[in-house]
Order: sequence, then C-alpha cells, then structure tokens
Amino acid sequence: MTYFDVFPRWQIEPVRAQGCKIYDKNGVEYLDFYGGHAVISIGHSHPEYIARITEQLHRIGFYSNSVQISLQNEYAEKLGAMSGYPDYSVFMVNSGAEANENALKLASFHTQRKKMVAFHKAFHGRTAATVRVTDIAQYWSANVLDLETVFLPWNDIDAVRETLKDREISSVIIEGIQGIGGIIVPDPQFMQQLRQVCDETDTVLIVDEIQSGYGRTGKFFAHQYADIRPDIITIAKGMGNGFPVSGMLIAPKFTAVHGQLGTTFGGNHLACAAAIAVLDVMQKEKLIDNAQTIGAYLMNELRKFPQIKEVRGHGLMIGVEFETPVKPLRDRLLFDRHVFTGATGAHVFRLLPPLCLTRDLADEFLTRFNDVLSH
Ligand SMILES: Cc1ncc(COP(=O)(O)O)c(C=O)c1O
Repeated sequence: MTYFDVFPRWQIEPVRAQGCKIYDKNGVEYLDFYGGHAVISIGHSHPEYIARITEQLHRIGFYSNSVQISLQNEYAEKLGAMSGYPDYSVFMVNSGAEANENALKLASFHTQRKKMVAFHKAFHGRTAATVRVTDIAQYWSANVLDLETVFLPWNDIDAVRETLKDREISSVIIEGIQGIGGIIVPDPQFMQQLRQVCDETDTVLIVDEIQSGYGRTGKFFAHQYADIRPDIITIAKGMGNGFPVSGMLIAPKFTAVHGQLGTTFGGNHLACAAAIAVLDVMQKEKLIDNAQTIGAYLMNELRKFPQIKEVRGHGLMIGVEFETPVKPLRDRLLFDRHVFTGATGAHVFRLLPPLCLTRDLADEFLTRFNDVLSH
C-alpha cells in the first residue's frame, strides 16, 4: 500500500525536535519559525508535557465518554480561568475542522436556522460544513453545495447588517486573525459592530481561534484585542502542542442536550493530559507575555527591511508581505539557511514560531532572513 498523495512535501525528514529547533535524519539542525503550522505552542518535546502524557498513558489512555472523566473538568476549569471565560463550557473533539463543524451545528440547533455567513478569504476546514464556509471554491465537492453560505467582504459592517436583517442566518463565522488568507487582522471596531448586529438579529457569532488563539497573539484570544465575547470560540492547534485535540468554548446561553453532539475520541484521557500540560507550562513560563514581547520585537525589526512591503499581525502570528513572489526566498531560507517558515498566497511569509521563542533565536532568524534577502 502507498500513502494517498495529496500533500506537496519537502525532501526533509525531521526525526527529533527540541524547543524551537528541529533535527532531520541527517543530523541537520533547523530553526522552527512555522511551528508545524502554528501547532507547537510550548515548544517541541517539553519535558513536563512528555512526563504528563507518559504518566497518563501508564494509568489509563482511553475510555469512552460514557464514564466519568474528571480530567475534562480539570481542563475546563484551567481553560476558563486562563482564557477569561470561566462562565463558558468547553466541548472537546479532535481537529480544527471538527470543532468548527460542531460549532456551526450547535448554532443551527440553537437558532433553528440554516444559512451561514463567512468572509472573503476565510479558511475554516475541510469537512462538509467547514469547507463550505471556506472561501476557496476548488475545495467544494458537489455534495456540499446545498449548504447555504453567504460570503461577505472583510470589515464591511453594512454588508453584514443587510445580510442579517431578515433573521435567516444561523451563524457568522470569522477567524480571530485570518491565517491562510494572509495574516489579516480585523478592524476592532468592525468586530464590535459585528457582535452588536449578531445580538440584534439573534445570530450566533462563532470566532475561529484555531490558528490565532491559545496565546499566539500575545493575548489568550485574538478577538480580545477587540474586547468582544463571541457566542462560540473554536480552538485546536496550540491547544495540544501536537497532540490531536480541539474544542469549542460555549456561552452559557446554549443548552446542552444529551445526544445532540458526540464523539468517540474527543476529550479522552491522553488528550486532556496533553491539554492540561500545555496550559500549565504556558502559565508557569509566561508564554503569552513572551509571545507579546518577542513578537513586538520581531515585527519592529522586520519593518526595518526596505525590501518588505508590509508586516502585520499580533504577537507571534506575523505576516510579512513582499511585492515579489516569496517562494524562492522561502526555499533558500529552508534549504540554505535551515529555517522553516510558512507562506500564504504568492507574496506573504507566515511566521508562526513556538511561543517559547527567545530573543537570541529571534535575532538568529533575522540574521538568516537578512542573508537570503541580500544574496
Ligand atoms: C483558522 C483555521 N480554522 C480551521 C482549520 C482546520 O483545522 P484542521 O486542519 O485541524 O481540521 C485551520 C487549519 O489550518 C485553520 O487555520
């Protein structure tokens, strides 16, 4: 059997990783400024994370959600306190798309409405409903086309007001900061008006913090820069530091109905152990503050490069836009200077390093970045 070949892959095979560094099978060391697509939050192979998961595995790794799993409550309490949502509930599933799929479904159960609103350049996943609120038509297979979605321009509150006024929209889904769309930060005033229009029309506001959440932007959630409270917040990536786990934070106004949502693997013992370890390490090592400080430093330094058109983002979610295609630069950075970065579209670098990035490693990155820009 062979692996179904849907991913373009680099000819590099990492076999070991530590903190912000990755080592390939030939022993070459790389600087990780991609975090495996924003997944690595507390750093690769953190000792406390390894110990917690290992210890849990020795006790019990899995049993179904038909029994008491007090680790879920321990996680919920910690998450509530650290995120600023102690009055919300959490429901755990396994991937980003699954979290969004459940959020869209819960909204529809709640409102008894069908239609969904999303924004231009949105990315929310690859399952049926999430791909339909993703603004990339080539992903839509024929069987998802009956799901009704309206795509609206970014930051356009009049368009939102017009579309929501007939009270037929179940939910509006928006990223805290658009990731794959190019690190596009929403206008805080737009987010506040969006909150208000959703309230006026009883529409559920879902903020997808799968990439922008979990401390990456220097606040627990990117939407906290706009000082709003969504009805549902979805989380994944940094939540497990590589362990496949995701979830949604759900406002108190939603009623939990037995049997309405469900999952075999979601919230299992190992996933909870991983998620608790991540929060504990984030708190002990003040990683959200670190993301804020080192991110601000990096953005400031990057803005000094005359070749760069724009630097945007918050904390350690940084987009670096060039007038020219970035692929050749990105390849040189990876193959010649051994730095992993992300790219989006033709012109934007996406920097998503682990939140434990140090000032020294930020400087090391800037040196290597400068090397590829000047040769
Ligand atoms: C904003 C956002 N939402 C949803 C997803 C989908 O997550 P997953 O690939 O875990 O299903 C992603 C993944 O990149 C994402 O960036």
